[in-house]
Amino acid sequence: MEIYLDTANPDHLQFASKFPFLNGITTNPSIIAKEKDSFKNVIKRINQHIQGKVWMQVTETTAEAMYQEAIELKNWVDHPVIKLPMNEDGLEAAYRLRQENIEVNMTLIYSLSQVVLAAKADVNYISPYIGRMDDQSLDGQTFIKHSKEIIQSFGASTKIIGASIRNTQVVADLARYGYDAITIPFPIFKKMFQSPLTTEGLAVFQSDWEKYTTSLK
Ligand code: E4P
Repeated sequence: MEIYLDTANPDHLQFASKFPFLNGITTNPSIIAKEKDSFKNVIKRINQHIQGKVWMQVTETTAEAMYQEAIELKNWVDHPVIKLPMNEDGLEAAYRLRQENIEVNMTLIYSLSQVVLAAKADVNYISPYIGRMDDQSLDGQTFIKHSKEIIQSFGASTKIIGASIRNTQVVADLARYGYDAITIPFPIFKKMFQSPLTTEGLAVFQSDWEKYTTSLK
């Protein structure tokens, strides 16, 4: 499973850079807006810290303008993925970009009919927002299971990237069920390292080791 972090915060990037096996960084306009710098500077800073893919979302609203914006964005980083909203203009622009071998992601996916269109266009990634679906009792994990069936029925290469992740259990579930990719908010990523049992167990090992080394003196 490809694993991305959903952040543009410099401290988070610094931490993430210690784990180069991660696949990269995803962003969206709300994530960029938290940083007090230009879009380009924020993205270039991410690219300096991260070896993997950097995902950037277009903010234009017509297919032609989204396409032109994407052509500029892709030059900002080494391994770009262009995020486009799943609507008529977004999919039209995405398909054009695909013809030029630019990786694209349809974001804000909430219905299976959207999945049908994205799979038919064979876009690289789709982002179902699992947490926001669960917030509305729309059962995000059942949705991605059905999405996978649709993609397989088309024989498409489209990957599902689980987005809007609210807890570590969803991360484990998606990995266990063999999903393609996930993007994780930083606080959830930090929690993935932790267990009180690990902390307690380590404290016992350290204390026993101290007693042992003291006894040898
Ligand atoms: C995905 O592309 C989005 O950036 C993201 O996962 C949204 O998550 P949120 O619901 O926590 O804002």
